[in-house]
Amino acid sequence: MLKVSYSFFHKDPNFCNIEHEVKKVESAGVDYLHLDVMDGHFVPNVLLGHDIVRSIRGITELPFDVHLMVDNPDNHVEQFAEAGSDIILVHAEACTHLHRTIQRIKKLGKKAGVALNPATPLSVIEYVLNDLDMVLVMTVNPGFYGQTFIPAMFAKISKLRKSIEELGLNVEIEVDGGINQETAKLAVKAGANVLVVGSALANQKDVRKAVETFKNLG
Ligand code: DX5
Ligand code: ZN
Repeated sequence: MLKVSYSFFHKDPNFCNIEHEVKKVESAGVDYLHLDVMDGHFVPNVLLGHDIVRSIRGITELPFDVHLMVDNPDNHVEQFAEAGSDIILVHAEACTHLHRTIQRIKKLGKKAGVALNPATPLSVIEYVLNDLDMVLVMTVNPGFYGQTFIPAMFAKISKLRKSIEELGLNVEIEVDGGINQETAKLAVKAGANVLVVGSALANQKDVRKAVETFKNLG
């Protein structure tokens, strides 16, 4: 089933009235809230701490798909787990001991995901794929919204889908960055089943219709 994960990180995030924004996308039928966390080191921008995640937790039942774009995520996973994350995604490039970090997330009772930057090969997750609930294939270089999808990622998505199928695993493939109707169609064809959408959903007049259009690609 094709899922849409809404990212607040776009040009006009309505953080002054986050409840309104959450209720709007919740009633429009999104499946996850994609919460981008940035530390200003791993990526140039700074965004969302665990206390904001905790306050949003109190206003919705939607699963939180928390994308940690932070150095040393081991220092943060407990706080984001306790704040109400459902899926915690760490960047392979930010982990010295990726296997241990994944175990740590699972021990906290959360779903574990690994995010891969565009230049990072799938081989990095070869020996932990079995342990994952999700792989996030970054389709832009992280840290900014409104970027253009990197076409080379289609091959990465299909290669990953093939491995998951050959191994008989139940791992979601999430794509994040530059997702619009055109790129989503090709990403789904390649094997993605969770679409992170920021700019392409932001300020849509009819959000429900926009979400439905994405889901009908599946
Ligand atoms: C980028 C973030 C993405 C971004 C998506 O580092 O991880 O989630 O907000 O925004 P769009 O959909 O505008 O590319
Ligand atoms: Zn993200």
